[in-house]
Amino acid sequence: MEIVEDTYLVHRYWGKKLTSYHFSNRPPLKKRTFAAAPIAEKPEVSPEFLPFEFPYPHQGDFRNSAVQIQQANGDELVRFCFQSYEIKNGVNQLSDLPHARGADEEAQTLIIYLSDQIAEIELALYYTIFADSSVIVRSSKIKNIGTRPIKIAKLFSASIDVRYDQQLSTTFYGTHQKEFQLNRSEIQHGLYKIGSSRGASGPLYPPYIALSKGADEFRGEVHAMTLIYSGNHEIILERDQYDHLRMQAGLASETFSWQLNAEETFYSPQALLSYSDRGFNGSSQSFHRFFTDHLISPAWKNKERPLLINSWEMTYYDVNHKRIIDLIDAAADLGFETVALDDGWYGKRNSSKTSLGDWTVDTDKFPDGLKPLVDYAKEKNIGFGIWFEPEMISPKTELLQKHPDWVMRSKNYEPLLGRNQYVLDLTNPEVQHFIIETVAKTIMELGVSYVKWDMNRHMTDPFSQQQTFESTEYPHRYMLGLYRVLNELTSAFPEVLFENCSSGGGRLDPGMLFYFPQTWISDNTDGLDRQQIQYGASCLFPISSMTGHVSDVPNHQTNRVVPFKTRAALASSTNMGYEMNIAQLTEDEKKAVRSHLKEYKQERKLIMEGTFHRLQSPFEGNTCGWMFLNKEQAVIYLFRNRYQVFDLSLLIKLPGLDHHALYQEETTRQVYSGSELINCGLALENPKGDCIVQKIKLKKIEAESV
Ligand code: DGJ
Repeated sequence: MEIVEDTYLVHRYWGKKLTSYHFSNRPPLKKRTFAAAPIAEKPEVSPEFLPFEFPYPHQGDFRNSAVQIQQANGDELVRFCFQSYEIKNGVNQLSDLPHARGADEEAQTLIIYLSDQIAEIELALYYTIFADSSVIVRSSKIKNIGTRPIKIAKLFSASIDVRYDQQLSTTFYGTHQKEFQLNRSEIQHGLYKIGSSRGASGPLYPPYIALSKGADEFRGEVHAMTLIYSGNHEIILERDQYDHLRMQAGLASETFSWQLNAEETFYSPQALLSYSDRGFNGSSQSFHRFFTDHLISPAWKNKERPLLINSWEMTYYDVNHKRIIDLIDAAADLGFETVALDDGWYGKRNSSKTSLGDWTVDTDKFPDGLKPLVDYAKEKNIGFGIWFEPEMISPKTELLQKHPDWVMRSKNYEPLLGRNQYVLDLTNPEVQHFIIETVAKTIMELGVSYVKWDMNRHMTDPFSQQQTFESTEYPHRYMLGLYRVLNELTSAFPEVLFENCSSGGGRLDPGMLFYFPQTWISDNTDGLDRQQIQYGASCLFPISSMTGHVSDVPNHQTNRVVPFKTRAALASSTNMGYEMNIAQLTEDEKKAVRSHLKEYKQERKLIMEGTFHRLQSPFEGNTCGWMFLNKEQAVIYLFRNRYQVFDLSLLIKLPGLDHHALYQEETTRQVYSGSELINCGLALENPKGDCIVQKIKLKKIEAESV
């Protein structure tokens, strides 16, 4: 960064580590017609040509701003001038938002102070770096140092100005049952904007953007950015007429505002920035490491996750005592470690039309309640988990009759339904308290070891019937309410595994990862679609954070029939579980499941803690390949989807292996050099049939003597 003319904080470089910097890339400035020129004798110094660290509007920058403030007198002008900076040890632990974690000796935070003495507003920019990571954490803070209230109309977390250099942009897009699709495209002149106004981070455009230059999975530069936030957000890319390129991330400005009274401060969520010169794999690997070391709860870091059997696709709402007992018996027999009772156990929940909010056990289905089931599972050495959708309320409930004012809605319009339900007003502390008490009571009374936290509709009518703040404050206040609830529950029950779900990966983002070590990434368990979903999600999220289940065929979402081995390999490439009627398997099927679980248990540590490498993209061709690697071994899966008679054999190259080592392949016992597997690749049979998978297991045997 540089301070230009003692005023403007500008950006100079973000990339590969430099030994020292002497402004070699600082462009000479040139006077231009239409450019604002604040210094009369230096007309070439115009905000239009400066690469700002945090641009503000109406002052000649003319591009998308990162902050907008309305003063009490209605003035929308601010001129933030550089004031000072300080460097502190540690990270800025935000008390009401999820945030990066790090001890004082692991991280340092640079805080740059800018201020406008006329408007009496201070802007602080935070940059945290870590000894063991190349990820940079950025955020911003506004402080009202005047005596009258101000209104923040926009506050981003990070803004970066670079030169357009034919980079491509990569973002996610998706929908229910097709999350984390990759969108890679050229950058045109103008403004490109993605984000969410749904009250949840996805599944349309989860917060992620990457700029890549001549990059593929293995080579080239990638600058990527994401947000530790789960609600309405905005990602901006702007290429102007001079080929300045601006990349920004933060709270969605259209659905946000915040009144800040005298002496109050407001913190933005944190943005995470990762630079890689090893292509997209390098970029994801730094995010994966960072999330594992500095975001998820330390209690769950590298902690073995249970092999789970979930009741949903086996029973849907038709759960009862006998069926769950049968499920526990089968689970114990086959080698599962936790049984999860999904939707349908409470109120009169026989369809999606009722009972959310009435969280008492349905005694028609479970005459003795759920405790005997949990105890029975315990006797069999199996954990027991339970499903909740705590943020919601169904129209026909006792809860709604008792507390009609707890629904998120305006006073004048009937609220809209979504999946037959309304959203609870989480800005209301009474509602927060109700959710905390209900979930905590169930956990304590039953002694469950796992909770699936679902959220199946998006927000309409974002208003509180009780609170008095402006409606544009609502979406962020909802998130603060939710984060408070999650913080209380996950801190009170650190030994309980909380799994995030929003009809699959509809709200999977780094913010949720702070509270939930794992997420059900898609309701779509189809053996073809899952390849893209998992491949895409892995661009940002570590494998340990994604759960994947083997389900029945024909697949319930697509009606497609994909061989068991392929479905098993896909689930094995995540934090694994099953979702089918395991109580009614044939002897052959049982044998296959038993051996699959045994194999997964042997490889679980490698899959969960090893380095993940994407090898062949299902977005680009007929195959999808990836590798799990640690110092001793590698497991590689190659999915080949459509059989083509032209393809006499398959070939997979394995960049990422140790160039100087020798590896032995498990089935053939053949020894290969790392360098040949990296550069020449490994040739494989191409068996007939669609949707097949090949698994290769390599053991490092020794360093090759050169
Ligand atoms: C949506 C989830 O994604 C499913 O796994 C299941 O829990 C249903 N909700 C239950 O209603």
